[in-house]
Amino acid sequence: MKSLIVYSSRTGNTQMLAEAVSAVMPNPTLCPIGSIDSTGSAENYQDFDLLAIGYWVDKGLPDEKVLNYFKTIKNTTIILFGTLGAYPDSAHAQDCIQKAEALLSDPALNNTVLGSFLCMGKVDPKLLTAMAKMPQNQAHPMTDERKERIEEAKKHPNEADLLNVQTFIKNLLTSQSN
Ligand SMILES: Cc1cc2nc3c(=O)[nH]c(=O)nc-3n(C[C@H](O)[C@H](O)[C@H](O)COP(=O)(O)O)c2cc1C
Repeated sequence: MKSLIVYSSRTGNTQMLAEAVSAVMPNPTLCPIGSIDSTGSAENYQDFDLLAIGYWVDKGLPDEKVLNYFKTIKNTTIILFGTLGAYPDSAHAQDCIQKAEALLSDPALNNTVLGSFLCMGKVDPKLLTAMAKMPQNQAHPMTDERKERIEEAKKHPNEADLLNVQTFIKNLLTSQSN
């Protein structure tokens, strides 16, 4: 059994998760998505039994690099993981998971998505500064709840998140082998 872990990470949060995931996957090859060419062929996932894909959430969807990578994937068993600024138990996080899984789950693609894991990841301070400067930022007004969430996100991914993703993966692998 061999596994490929492909991940996209702008500021390092998802990379932390990818390294933790890699540590519990069978015979892992860890591969930052930038090392894949535009056709997705540089890392041939078809040579592997299991593919884990890590993304960061960008406007409610996996980031663009991962969206493009998704388009190349068929006949594959997949585990998804990722980070986002929102709470992982929020409706927004559940919606992100559903959308990501749906993109891979068209029956014609013949993929199996075993499961998805999301945890918080600190938001790029440059994005926060840019958003604060936007006039009347109605989509993301700076409420107390939002301030609190941004502060909480600054602490993630933490050790507990890394252990949680490892437990999540181990459980999926155990249920697969039974
Ligand atoms: C352009 C941009 C868009 C984002 N959109 C969302 C979003 O829609 N929902 C969310 O919860 N977090 C969003 N985030 C926060 C990131 O998903 C989060 O900080 C993530 O951990 C970054 O991962 P990375 O360090 O691996 O790049 C966004 C961040 C950026 C920079």
